[in-house]
Amino acid sequence: MDHYDPDILTEEAFQKRFHYKNPTDDKWKIPQCAIFSCEGGVVGGLSGVKEGLNEVKSSLNHYEIQKWNKHTTFVNPSGKVLNVLRRRIQPELSTQAWCKFHELLSYGNVIPTNCGAGDTLCSVHLCEAPGGFIASLNHHLKSQRPNVKHKWVGNTLNPYYEGNPLSSCIVDDRLISRTLKSWCFGQDNTGDVFKPEFMDSLSAHCHNEFDDATIGLVTADGSLNCADKPGEQETVVAPLHHVEMLDALQLLCSGGTFVM
Ligand SMILES: C[S@@+](CC[C@H](N)C(=O)[O-])C[C@H]1O[C@@H](n2cnc3c(N)ncnc32)[C@H](O)[C@@H]1O
Repeated sequence: MDHYDPDILTEEAFQKRFHYKNPTDDKWKIPQCAIFSCEGGVVGGLSGVKEGLNEVKSSLNHYEIQKWNKHTTFVNPSGKVLNVLRRRIQPELSTQAWCKFHELLSYGNVIPTNCGAGDTLCSVHLCEAPGGFIASLNHHLKSQRPNVKHKWVGNTLNPYYEGNPLSSCIVDDRLISRTLKSWCFGQDNTGDVFKPEFMDSLSAHCHNEFDDATIGLVTADGSLNCADKPGEQETVVAPLHHVEMLDALQLLCSGGTFVM
């Protein structure tokens, strides 16, 4: 900790953690019947918050994008963290996602409690290119829990499938090209989690890779380019989050961890 600028350590942005508890009336129970069977609606005061947020975002419209990027890079304290990490530990993939997952792993509770020395952690990583979460998990296990074995399966839009629009794929394939056997791109090789047959392919892939062992950790970090609809980011990514959630619930063992 001595190496970090004290301003960074006290930065409010690094203290943001929220704890949620199932209300006593059990409102959060997963419905036993068909899901999404009622009309959608507006939640409490959220539509007002959305309007306010988009109004603030619009007040930036007249700034030149390069100038604005320069400014946000300059005032972003996380940028300094990445530089220190690059110099000190040279992560396999030094990206913001690597740091994000390292932070989550450091808080604890991500690796299931029953996964101890001599056990094998089986993990699945949805929408994962270029693979920062996987590299970060590998680093954490090797350095903090060297006696835990690790098997993993990754998925993402296949950057080698020419039918996938380049704009939706991450072209950085440094990890994927070296670990191709561990990636599941589905029957049609697109890697698209929306394809109806994808889940069957993924289950079969995990079955082979994990020798029937249960899956203790699923991550899903899917995102889409919302540049043409910046005010509707949540609506645009909601279907992807929905599919990721359904896949994770089918894959995970009881007591496993889901990071979305
Ligand atoms: C923010 S990146 C994930 C970063 C990753 N967690 C990491 O640590 O490097 C979002 C990913 O979602 C993927 N993605 C978007 N739509 C997808 C879909 N329909 N099926 C599979 N992957 C998708 C993108 O290709 C991209 O790789």
